[in-house]
Amino acid sequence: MCGIIGYTGKRQASPIMLSGLKRLEYRGYDSSGMAVIHDGKIDVIKSEGKIKKLEEKTDGGKKPIGTVGIGHTRWATHGVPSDVNSHPHVSRDGDFAIVHNGIIENFAALKSELMRLGYTFKSDTDSEVIAQLLCHLFKGDAVKAIRELLKKIKGSYSIGILCAKTPDRLYAVRKDNPLVIGLGKGENFIASDFAAAIEHTHDFVLLGEGEIAELSADSVRYYDADLNLIEKDSYTVDWDISRAEKSGYPHFMLKEIYEQPKAITDTIRPRIQNGNIDLDGIDFKKSYLDSLIGVDIVGCGSAYHAGIVGKHFIEKHCRLPVNCELASEYIYSDPITGSNRLTVIISQSGETADTLAALRLAKKKGSRTLAIVNVVQSAIAREADDVLYTHAGPEIAVATTKGYTTQVAALYLLGIKLAGILGTEEGKRLSELTTELSLLPEKISEQLKDEYVGSIKTLAKKYSNHHCVFFIGRGTDYAASLEGALKLKEISYVHAEAYAAGELKHGTISLIETGTLTLALVTQSALFHKMESNIQAVSSRHGTVLAVASKANSKISSDADGMICIPECDDDVSPVLTAVVLQLFAYYVAAKRDCDIDQPRNLAKSVTVE
Ligand code: F6R
Repeated sequence: MCGIIGYTGKRQASPIMLSGLKRLEYRGYDSSGMAVIHDGKIDVIKSEGKIKKLEEKTDGGKKPIGTVGIGHTRWATHGVPSDVNSHPHVSRDGDFAIVHNGIIENFAALKSELMRLGYTFKSDTDSEVIAQLLCHLFKGDAVKAIRELLKKIKGSYSIGILCAKTPDRLYAVRKDNPLVIGLGKGENFIASDFAAAIEHTHDFVLLGEGEIAELSADSVRYYDADLNLIEKDSYTVDWDISRAEKSGYPHFMLKEIYEQPKAITDTIRPRIQNGNIDLDGIDFKKSYLDSLIGVDIVGCGSAYHAGIVGKHFIEKHCRLPVNCELASEYIYSDPITGSNRLTVIISQSGETADTLAALRLAKKKGSRTLAIVNVVQSAIAREADDVLYTHAGPEIAVATTKGYTTQVAALYLLGIKLAGILGTEEGKRLSELTTELSLLPEKISEQLKDEYVGSIKTLAKKYSNHHCVFFIGRGTDYAASLEGALKLKEISYVHAEAYAAGELKHGTISLIETGTLTLALVTQSALFHKMESNIQAVSSRHGTVLAVASKANSKISSDADGMICIPECDDDVSPVLTAVVLQLFAYYVAAKRDCDIDQPRNLAKSVTVE
């Protein structure tokens, strides 16, 4: 989704904003722009398309001149991607420039009102109304005008504001959208996330809902909704800048695939002490767990897929019914929940609008909420009753890889912990599972050796011209298929469908014809013979089958056209290793098809609108 960067200090603002905008590219965008105050006037340069075009228009950041500015990457919601719809938007008197993330839901009514008062609009966006409203509300004090603005606009937003009448200042507000203040020495920043400013500072303040920040080079003032000055604590983000750079990899996605051994180690190692699991002190009393009639796991996209893996694991070992739901469905289903259900909310970014809404709804209905989140201090992390950080580090590629596998690892930790308290699984089995979990990073490292990756690359190249691919599996392999199909379609634009293998014969098999590619996941020994029949059903219709199998099931190779074996592991944790194969497969198919792997068309990293 859109990205914001803003700067006030002593340096030329444009190059700082250009590099900040580049760090926000991963969020997904279709145009970009910046506004800078110079000699009491606001200069704006913006462009549809990639930041490269903005870079050309600004002469590599040499213009516009000035030391206070705001920049934006836009992901179109209202109005097509175009120069005129790009942000910043400027008020009719030229005194205000704004950048906005989110949606102003009542923009149409506000726009009509302003048009009746003689205001004209240049763009089709909901955002331009903010600039014109500020112009209308300004009576000499920018902070007061912003407070009046907040009373009028409805929806979700983070907004950066320049006012030509206060040329050394920059203002920011937010509601249901992320925005942080970066504190530098003799300079300060606003940013949609700290990646945009982390090369300049590691000290950040999270702006609260409805608060107003007024930044100058040497100070930041925070106001509450009644314009009382308030104190805010800062926190340090220890993300190393190199972790937000490609470090020699052709794409962030490949880098992040290779970071998985470390990421999963960081998720699990601090929580396993002498074979026992401690979830950062989160206290689950046996009496509480006994009172539960079920668990709801809620997320979107890959986080939802991780949830389905978690459902299988928790149901099997904790004997608790688990319902895994898409957040966008959960929030409008009047979910039957309360204190007798635990709600596990999964989100890499911690800012996904539907998932945040699901968390709030579950809490409102009295359910205890546990968030599995990567981004520290994100909205979901702050609002959940308990939080289990995945510690995956920054994930820049739009398609999640380490974000997903660390979510699965965190769910395994949770499942083992709950089973131990509930006494639903023998101690010996829990120790085996804990050991298997600790061995995952080592096994992924084996998969990332050149020879293994090379064999996947060869198969990916061979099948890269297919237009339709099926992924089939049973049980936890079906859950892993869902993620494999999503990876392939989102980055390579190849149509891919995941099917519970037993469902093929109930309709989809009619699509299998000579050469149709099916990736069959065969890691569940108990279901081997069932998968064998499903694979034969595909082969006998002249479909091509590529099996992803565990060593124990490698005899499936005689029924398949090709096979990739995952390292030996307990069947219960195989989805993590299968995921690595399917991520690499999708990556190399997309690379062969020359796709924009890190920023696939139409997609955004952090989906902060419904
Ligand atoms: C797919 C992908 C998305 C996200 C989804 C949820 O590769 O990245 O499907 O998983 O948008 O995002 P988070 O986890 O940030 O809530």
